[in-house]
Amino acid sequence: MSFIEDGKSVLKNLDEYYNQSINKEKPVLRQLTISWLHKKLDLAAHLENGDLSGKKLDYFIKDYLDNTTRLHHPGYLAHQVGVPHPTGALGSLIDGFTNNAMAIYEMGPAAAAIEFFMINYLLEKIGWEPMPAQIEKRLNFQHGGGVLTHGGSLANMTALLTARNHLDKTIREKGNPSDLVILAPESSHYSIIKAAGIIGIGENNVIGLETSPNGRVMVSKLDNTFQKAINSGKRIIALVANACSTGTGLYDPIDEIADFCHEKKIWFHVDGAHGGGVLFSGRYKTFLKGISKADSMIIDAHKMLRTPTVCAALLVKDAAASDHTFEHTASYLFHEKKQPGFDFIEQAIECTKAGLGLKFYMAFASIGEKGMEAYIDNTYDLTRQAYEYINAQPDFEVPVRPETNILCFRFDAGDKAQIMLRDLLIEEGSFHISSTELNARRYLRIVIINPETKMRDIKELVASIRSKAKNF
Ligand SMILES: Cc1ncc(COP(=O)(O)O)c(C=O)c1O
Repeated sequence: MSFIEDGKSVLKNLDEYYNQSINKEKPVLRQLTISWLHKKLDLAAHLENGDLSGKKLDYFIKDYLDNTTRLHHPGYLAHQVGVPHPTGALGSLIDGFTNNAMAIYEMGPAAAAIEFFMINYLLEKIGWEPMPAQIEKRLNFQHGGGVLTHGGSLANMTALLTARNHLDKTIREKGNPSDLVILAPESSHYSIIKAAGIIGIGENNVIGLETSPNGRVMVSKLDNTFQKAINSGKRIIALVANACSTGTGLYDPIDEIADFCHEKKIWFHVDGAHGGGVLFSGRYKTFLKGISKADSMIIDAHKMLRTPTVCAALLVKDAAASDHTFEHTASYLFHEKKQPGFDFIEQAIECTKAGLGLKFYMAFASIGEKGMEAYIDNTYDLTRQAYEYINAQPDFEVPVRPETNILCFRFDAGDKAQIMLRDLLIEEGSFHISSTELNARRYLRIVIINPETKMRDIKELVASIRSKAKNF
């Protein structure tokens, strides 16, 4: 069987899958056991026979697709994983096929050029100076920089490493002293604490910024936390703010925090993994007011920018600060060579790095800036309508007015009931939602990220929860 024939069969199956999903003909999620799936997919036999082509490939793909979580289903409301634009998915295919590990320019000039272009595109949206295409000019003036990483957790970690090495250039070689801390609200994504553990700062050295009951940083309390850290002899690597937080989707007051950090000379890192997409929204970019005063920012393209997983952007205001975060001695990679491009390897933890920019660019360019803006605005608008609707129901409670496309709510029952309701919804197959804790209470949580989700789906979700709760 030829590559073309197998390719046609894959695309045909994906097209069917897409239509079944948007028309809700199959459950959004079906979770069978690992051993059942091993058998159904005939994993051992294909491995032994080496026969995954033609008809066998066709059956295999059908079975595989039948057991996926269908992100294109309008009832997919669970997690912050974007519904990829089909053209972005074609980008993934091309990247997989060409396998251009573009961290050094000679291993993927087109991929590196696209990554360079997308980083500059984002830098300009933030209001930072883009990188000059001629390498010789890099050292001549201050400009921004960045890199695409395999996910937001890695992007946050790279940002914190950059901030640490900026604070003290000797640490990379000598190791961490014990006086380093990071300031971040408890509402930060756990990747911040995790990064502190991994890079050797220590999880306990992430000092919580005081927040409102909804988890938003309180500017009036920043100085307290700062003074306490300084008075106990600590050096602050960075202050981290959310744009937006994972649990409730609220933005921290970026503008005022930026002024505080500027005054105290602290590296200001903005985690915009989820909410950074409002850079493209005329209506909602006000949530990022002051962003150009930050030092670094991350945005996950695979969350709100219609890009297949994984693809995150780390952006820094001053490329010189990040240029020497990673200095290498690999003589097979670093030597005098003809260099018409740019080696992203100097900015990244990864050595082999996929051509992440291609799928990002292809997803974005297929709808354009206006299309991206409409997508983001629609998801945010619909979440506001969902809030009004659910909040008006006498047997539902909504703790936070949403700013993004994340909405927490609770059916009038105990904590355990919320988990049971989620399980029952998933089992039935019409909806996939998540759940979170807020102020020690359990809530149901939805992320309206699918362009196919409409208000009627939200109404059906409410009705479905109510009817399931009748059996308690
Ligand atoms: C605010 C925030 N930061 C970082 C991350 C981690 O990103 P990733 O899952 O791409 O590693 C998430 C993931 O949900 C997030 O919500």
